[in-house]
Amino acid sequence: MTPQESQPADRLFNHREWPDEWKPEGFNGHGPPSSLKHGAIAALSAPDLHDKIGLTRITARQWFNGALGQGGVQTLVVPDRPGRPERPLLVPPNKMRKRSIRSESGRIALLHAIAHIELNAIDLAWDIVARFANERMPRSFYDGWVRVALEEAKHFSLLRTRLNDLGADYGDLDAHDGLWEAAQTTQHELRARLAIVPLILEARGLDITPSVIRQMEDVGDQKSAEIFHIIYRDEQGHVAVGAKWFRFLCLREEREPAAAFQDLVRTHFRGALKPPFNDMARARAGLTPVFYRALSSAGR
Ligand SMILES: [Fe+2]
Ligand SMILES: [Fe+2]
Repeated sequence: MTPQESQPADRLFNHREWPDEWKPEGFNGHGPPSSLKHGAIAALSAPDLHDKIGLTRITARQWFNGALGQGGVQTLVVPDRPGRPERPLLVPPNKMRKRSIRSESGRIALLHAIAHIELNAIDLAWDIVARFANERMPRSFYDGWVRVALEEAKHFSLLRTRLNDLGADYGDLDAHDGLWEAAQTTQHELRARLAIVPLILEARGLDITPSVIRQMEDVGDQKSAEIFHIIYRDEQGHVAVGAKWFRFLCLREEREPAAAFQDLVRTHFRGALKPPFNDMARARAGLTPVFYRALSSAGR
């Protein structure tokens, strides 16, 4: 058991000094979350990363044990920005230095950049759960996103441990806020959020990860390669969760999924999609080329 897992729920909920608007009625700041929405907001808001991961695990455990309701009717405010530690500093994407992964410092920079993506992914999964808690969605929709949050926390922890093995830590280098900003234009519509987060941003990860695995193997960093194998496998599941529920919503609203996807991407996503695409992995996740080909810089 890791130190984070051994922390009782009370410790994580006792010491939080939340603004009143984050507390559900009757919640005195002690004990486990009162609902899935409450736990999601707690994890999203936590600036301390051990707390964020601990809250993610506790909320997921309680949800899968059947101890929590969705909390859709609770008047809790979902914060616009996640809680984050003071470091890394956030800089514009074009200020990020590119380094070769042949050097150890280059590998550390890559592991750090992907750890930052995974941290964003934890917050994005909880943001979907919290922000869309009162959509009329089946319980299995929330099951899917809670599992995503849990797996993103695992990815972040694996990468952070690997950084530690190499004498570094998350927060040592700068990072950028592009992912969070890309997601925030879709705050008000679940279909748009699913189009942009799992079906554009996470699907992009499927295109890139096989080459990261190869590069790590080429330089003999088998330990990092193994982490990316895990990430690659899990991320296909995340895109699949997105594709399943995107189709569900389109069906419910009697829209054609591929055309609806393209409309939403053109409205909410800047820039063209860059080939090459990992068509096999995308298709395994239910995202077939008819969705994205017409949006690609090569397909225009
Ligand atoms: Fe991930
Ligand atoms: Fe993911």
